[in-house]
Amino acid sequence: QAADIKLVVNADQPGPVIHRNVYGQFAEHLGTGIYEGMWVGPDSKIPNVRGWRKDVVAALKELKVPLVRWPGGCFADEYHWRDGIGPRNKRPVKINTNWGGVPEDNAVGTHEFFDLVEQLGAEAYVNGNLGTGSAQEMSEWLEYMTGEGKSTLTDLRRKNGRDKPFRVHYFAVGNEAWGCGGNMRPEYYADQYRQVASFLKTPGHNRPIMIASGGNGLQTEWTEALSKGVHSVNAISHHSYTLPTGKWEHKGAAIGFPEGEWISTLANVQHIDEIITKNTAVLDKNDPSKKIGFYFDEWGSWYDPDPGSNPGFLVQRNTLRDALLAALHFNVFHAHADRVQMTNIAQMVNVLQAMIQTTKTSMVLTPTYHAFALYTPFQDATSLPAKIENNPVYKVGNVEMPGISATAARAKDGKLYIGLVNSNANQPAELTLQVGSAAPKAVKGKLLTAGAMDAQNELGKPAQVVPQAFEAQATNGKLTLKLPAKSVVVVAVEG
Ligand code: AHR
Repeated sequence: QAADIKLVVNADQPGPVIHRNVYGQFAEHLGTGIYEGMWVGPDSKIPNVRGWRKDVVAALKELKVPLVRWPGGCFADEYHWRDGIGPRNKRPVKINTNWGGVPEDNAVGTHEFFDLVEQLGAEAYVNGNLGTGSAQEMSEWLEYMTGEGKSTLTDLRRKNGRDKPFRVHYFAVGNEAWGCGGNMRPEYYADQYRQVASFLKTPGHNRPIMIASGGNGLQTEWTEALSKGVHSVNAISHHSYTLPTGKWEHKGAAIGFPEGEWISTLANVQHIDEIITKNTAVLDKNDPSKKIGFYFDEWGSWYDPDPGSNPGFLVQRNTLRDALLAALHFNVFHAHADRVQMTNIAQMVNVLQAMIQTTKTSMVLTPTYHAFALYTPFQDATSLPAKIENNPVYKVGNVEMPGISATAARAKDGKLYIGLVNSNANQPAELTLQVGSAAPKAVKGKLLTAGAMDAQNELGKPAQVVPQAFEAQATNGKLTLKLPAKSVVVVAVEG
């Protein structure tokens, strides 16, 4: 007989605030992530506001999207901002060399991007071009966006329809400098960053948080090089994707996968925890006053492309597995809230682990969307220690992971919220909840689960993964939560 599983939350030991930017998004000029998926142009018959699809923007607003990173990704290091301003019919057409070799007509540029984030009520994260750009090009882009006085560039912005400056909250110098951003060594990039950042000037009250492109996976050398003596770095952006097989040449299928690939996908979150732990140890050594943020600005599942799709468009199905993967990431990010003050799932619409999948005229909310929706109370909440006693081990073949994952926080509405994931594909779990030494009266919230590991919400078919009501009441001074197999639960604690 297995020992009782217990979750103990210490509500009187507040930890760091979980920054709302942990729930950030990423939109790259890639496949139909922007064009079609969100941007249809102002003349389209599809309902839109100045070119941005009304249905998609309305659904994203429900997620309280805190910020959007744009224009890439690998695309950023080949993007020249001047191509994306002025009359749209006069903008140059380029080849998107990173993503499918398709024409990029630059219909979405600086003004359109800021219109999108302003419609969403989100902050702007602009990724500069170090790869094929220059300090001059980036500094002129910043002047164009943020300049207040009279200059040729600020006048050009006004002529293009924007009088007041854009608010640039975050600006990154290049992307994946270790790979598509230039195949650099950490020390070489750190020197490049130091030099370029010296010339990236804005008015003081519109100064972006400056982000340096960091490492990948378990690497720590980028964090080391960038946190040692590069004083202009406000944050380091790290990337890590989850591939069921761990192999780029054959990543694993998005649907119809065996339980061995269910667990290998979910168990990878232990690597995410390890990546953050190792990199924050480097930061704690080089930056003990915790001035530098560790941003995870690309994460999520990456499967073999949907059969029949353009492989350069990174189209993949999104299933219940993705909902659990997202929630497991959130729980890890919350546990590192002091350094991890921003993360950006890849990507917002139609690409990789998307929130929304569209056809030209309709859209569907993915299981990942619902995981984000359930976790919205954690944005800007104060993290609390949550310890699981007698956590069962979930094991398939030689892969194992903790069966239950939990997080707890005091939200801005004053309520205590708990997020739980039962990763076991077959076994439900019962756990008792204690806040301090007492059992609360009740919990109420939402549950995400489904019959199959690869249950999905397909266009034109009834959705299989949708939030359901979840509640539990205490009896005889004991509050027991019954978590179905393969489920995500977020509840508010009452009493
Ligand atoms: O998100 C897709 C790509 O993955 C990004 O463009 C790149 O930064 C990463 O390799």
